[in-house]
Amino acid sequence: MNMQKDNYLWWRDGVIYQIYPRSFADSNGDGIGDLRGIIDRLDYLAELGVDAIWLSPIFPSPDVDFGYDVADYRGIDPKFGSMEDFEELLAQAHQRNLHIILDLVLNHTSDQHPWFVEARQSKESSFHDYYIWRDPAPGGKPPNNWAAIFGGSAWEYDEGAGQYYLHLFYKEQVDLNWRNPAVYQEMMDLFRYWCDKGVDGFRLDVFNLWYKHADLPDNPRQFPPSPPFFRPWDQQKHIYDYDQPEMMPALAEIRSILDSYPARYAVGETFPEDAASAARYSQPGYLHAAFNFEFTHCQWLARPFQRAIERYEQLLSDEQWPCYVLGNHDLSRPATRYARGDEDGRLKVAAAMLMTLRGTPFIYYGDEIGQRDIPIRKKEDVLDPIGKSFWPFFKGRDGCRAPMQWNSCENAGFSSTQPWLPVNADYSTRNVENQAGDPDSLLTFYRQLLTLRREHPALHRGSLHMLIEDPRFVIAYERRYEDETFMVLLNFSNFERALEISELSASEWWTPVLSNYPYDQLVTEDSVINLQPNQALILIKNQV
Ligand code: GLC
Repeated sequence: MNMQKDNYLWWRDGVIYQIYPRSFADSNGDGIGDLRGIIDRLDYLAELGVDAIWLSPIFPSPDVDFGYDVADYRGIDPKFGSMEDFEELLAQAHQRNLHIILDLVLNHTSDQHPWFVEARQSKESSFHDYYIWRDPAPGGKPPNNWAAIFGGSAWEYDEGAGQYYLHLFYKEQVDLNWRNPAVYQEMMDLFRYWCDKGVDGFRLDVFNLWYKHADLPDNPRQFPPSPPFFRPWDQQKHIYDYDQPEMMPALAEIRSILDSYPARYAVGETFPEDAASAARYSQPGYLHAAFNFEFTHCQWLARPFQRAIERYEQLLSDEQWPCYVLGNHDLSRPATRYARGDEDGRLKVAAAMLMTLRGTPFIYYGDEIGQRDIPIRKKEDVLDPIGKSFWPFFKGRDGCRAPMQWNSCENAGFSSTQPWLPVNADYSTRNVENQAGDPDSLLTFYRQLLTLRREHPALHRGSLHMLIEDPRFVIAYERRYEDETFMVLLNFSNFERALEISELSASEWWTPVLSNYPYDQLVTEDSVINLQPNQALILIKNQV
């Protein structure tokens, strides 16, 4: 296999699959997914052809933000299993050549973390300075004008300590003081702790928020407010509360820790989503990659997608590696954003694009079968607290976090009992079992794409060259590595498109290798090719 020959590197050449553990597979019938459930499904993931699994947080958490409020960075939440279960998951995953990425939420801890429980006792507590405290401003007001991303002020008054503490998300997610050397050291040790256990990589939650300006000055006003407009957060220019210069040396140290182990990886979530800062933080010597979320904002048209690719390619140097996502646990699912009704044509085009671009693709669980968001109809049904606070402007993130649809049995084969979030009503037809047996399904197409990508270095590590400068309907590009060349044609429109591509002039030299339509519908005359509505077509150049 090419893997050996080309020194295949899992995080660079492979595909990463994100699991939201609460919703993937429930082995013990409590309605919440767990580690044993994931172990039971590792064969499914190996067969799908992914190289790594990113687990959204599995650490003990009171679940105010469903795991993104961590109460112990070194433990496993009992609702997901035990440390033994985790070690077994790691071992079983490794046996299948699957790597494990943990989600480290190091900007804040839960207010239930023992550090904060101690810290809030009094100003004299040895843990007080683990967090960011200030005395009230005159009149008892908050120390500065900073706003929380999840609404309201970023400051909460604490009776015990007689001071305000900072929280850029919920008040139960208390921002750590990264300027305290003890906190810094804890964090560096944490990377070593999990690497020593054999964990392969880390997703760093909102990492560019770790450092705030040391003097905590007021942020200037932003007028007009930036989208989504309705929070105090949107009315400020965020110069002092994130992206501070101290970030770079911290990332460099993390990188050197990771580099002292074989093939470890860190991918960062830049907040807010900004391709330029993602590019800055993933320069050589810092993070291996940082997510580019631009696709998740693109309308379903060829031009915005191509522009997003070109912009990103321009921002990155040759030594940097792109990192694309179509969805995650914070965003409406791609099927809900792009698909028309129950039809999956556009999702196949999106999948073909994701799997043939330069860069590491991420697949959010369930997107490989085209899961749709569950509808959120009533405020009382909302579990995600921001959905409650911003109702009806924003209904929260429950929609994209519903249980994985495994089969047509009760609760979609996810659990023997009623799951923590409802299963999408379409589960009896849209599920893994049905799609695995259907040669035309989205899942089958994903599997074929992943196999093709893995087998051909040009598709995972080749150069990228756009063939149409300003596309209206079709994105076309070449991927090339050594003596191998592929052409990828993606019809974003719902109509047939005749496409003239000069590179196709010697059409006999190109052989179709994968499409969501039968190849015999492929008509080439001179340099013209007819693409079917929402057809993705991958061709390989024959060796002369
Ligand atoms: C990240 C996570 C999100 C979480 C937030 C606070 O954006 O993806 O789910 O709510 O950070 O930790």
